[in-house]
Amino acid sequence: MSQASSEQYRVYTVWDVPTRWFHWINALAVLGLIGIGVMLLNDDALGLSASGKIKLKQIHVTLGYVMAVNLIWRVVWAFLGNRYARWRAILPYGPGYWGALRSYVAAFLSGEPQQYVGHNPAGRIAIVLILLLLVVQTATGLILAGTDLFWPPFGGWFADRVAAPGIDPASVTPLASDTMDQVAYKAMRAFRSPIVTLHLYAFYTLALVILTHLAAVIVTEIREGGSITSAMFTGRKILNRPPRDL
Ligand code: HEM
Repeated sequence: MSQASSEQYRVYTVWDVPTRWFHWINALAVLGLIGIGVMLLNDDALGLSASGKIKLKQIHVTLGYVMAVNLIWRVVWAFLGNRYARWRAILPYGPGYWGALRSYVAAFLSGEPQQYVGHNPAGRIAIVLILLLLVVQTATGLILAGTDLFWPPFGGWFADRVAAPGIDPASVTPLASDTMDQVAYKAMRAFRSPIVTLHLYAFYTLALVILTHLAAVIVTEIREGGSITSAMFTGRKILNRPPRDL
């Protein structure tokens, strides 16, 4: 649906309410996760005590749950939302996709950028990369939350395996090594080691992709217009040329 706002400019309804809520909840949660993740990486420099580090992990994982539920909701919404929120408008493939990408890049380089109501063809690649990296962070993070804090959904399973003989798995806690069987604990640490590495490298990659995403939004805003940043608040884009995806 669209309506004329002046001779040249037209207003286009694009992002529905759930998509906008997802975007800003996700942005804030990821920002918080990155901030606390960086603190965890610098625990020694910050002089964190063992219990201080556990507290930070608890905050990190609580934010991680928010991000995970929000992400699951977005995956479902991509089947239910308006046409710009759906997989067909997000995934970088489909009839005409590669031609549209080439034409978008060529027009961009020539200084006459094309306008889109939804994601432009290059933006789709960034969105899918970000979503994939968030899925990796969620999957690895939930396993680490199980091995580190014995928190759901996998914490009970790990506590069962490391509880010392005669100890109730429910009473196994991160710093109480006397509640754990040391051989089983070492095996659990060996299991989680490559998962920490994956979580860390996905973090570095995500940080890079997010910076690219922010730079691309700024460049698009300057060169193409469309008020794309405010569109994530209002749901509406203002374009002065016929969009390619109407
Ligand atoms: C955008 C999402 C996320 C980012 C950028 C992120 C980033 C990080 C970083 C940088 C670390 C420090 C790694 C290290 O100490 O070696 C970390 C640790 C951790 N993260 Fe995340 N994380 C994210 C999502 C999650 C989620 C969804 C969960 C769980 C629900 C989670 C659970 C954990 C846990 C338990 C640790 C501690 C690992 C350890 O003991 O070293 N993370 N995260």
